[in-house]
Amino acid sequence: MTTLSSPSPAATASVGAAPHLREDLLTPRFYTTQIAKAATTDIEPQRPIFDAMLAEMEADYNRDHFDRRTPLDRLRALSAADKEAYESYLVRSCVSEFSGFLLFKELSRRLIQSGRTDLGRLFQLMARDEARHAGFLNRALVAEGITIDLPSLSGKRPITWFPLSWVLYSVYLSEKIGYWRYILIDRHLKAHPDNSVAPLFDFFEPWCQDENRHGDIFNMLIRCWPGLRRGLRGHLLSRFFLWSVFLTHSLTVCERGDFYALLGLDPARFDDEVMRQTNRTAQRAFPMVFDLDNSRYLQLRDQLVDTFLQLKALAEAPAGSHPWLQRLRLRAQFASQLLQQFCQPMVASAEVVA
Ligand SMILES: [Fe+2]
Ligand SMILES: [Fe+2]
Repeated sequence: MTTLSSPSPAATASVGAAPHLREDLLTPRFYTTQIAKAATTDIEPQRPIFDAMLAEMEADYNRDHFDRRTPLDRLRALSAADKEAYESYLVRSCVSEFSGFLLFKELSRRLIQSGRTDLGRLFQLMARDEARHAGFLNRALVAEGITIDLPSLSGKRPITWFPLSWVLYSVYLSEKIGYWRYILIDRHLKAHPDNSVAPLFDFFEPWCQDENRHGDIFNMLIRCWPGLRRGLRGHLLSRFFLWSVFLTHSLTVCERGDFYALLGLDPARFDDEVMRQTNRTAQRAFPMVFDLDNSRYLQLRDQLVDTFLQLKALAEAPAGSHPWLQRLRLRAQFASQLLQQFCQPMVASAEVVA
């Protein structure tokens, strides 16, 4: 299914023949949650942090940051294949930012309706940031002659419902993994300016601070529900969301390997570093994190990516040329590797529930 509209004949041709612009299983989804339950969040135990975060969000440090006036000369030097990798990255990131905007906007609207103006305002300010990010990426796409019809995209796709606890854990991790992705790319490109192939990357440093702040807000919200970090529940939530967010990241990075190669990054090692840093950061929010240094977690990551690529190659082979037995064997191998990775040892976070 294509979710792109085409504003010009040039774009029509490019979109119609461009598999890199189409969504797939790894494409971001749209979410909603138990908003009535969210409206009962008791922020009083976290009041000083809440007030500090709200003041920081109101200060709007990046108000003027996303005013794009950079010349696009660098982009013209890209080959067709490199441009494809860049555009594919833009599309996915734009939909992902827009998905965050929709969730935060809906939460803010309903929280304000429920009389929670304090919480509603905080979500309104996060929605402001995500709308800005999505708009900025959208403008970068328009510069490439591609238009995504974001409002109609959200209407066409199913909205996934998650319990509040899942949203708190998964959005916290998405924000923190987003922070690490942007900051690691930014540091790499500052050390290797020749690989900074698009003006977009010049904006990453203050941008990632927005994601970092959003992550800190979700950490504060998790603390407003102490039961979420205790006992078996805390353990399972930490294990499941770290594992699933890391797995999605690994498979996405391996699928978009061309994009990372374009920036002069080794996709597998970039993925490792993003996971290590996010896992370390998550110690501040989750009761448990994976023991990446003393387990087979990252080794299993390499094996999973390898099996995933073999399965993909098999699926793309001409019809009738792929033996069902080989496909079955690879699927069983993939399932076994998933299970082994999920069960890898974890360590208790130094800062356990207060
Ligand atoms: Fe964002
Ligand atoms: Fe964010």
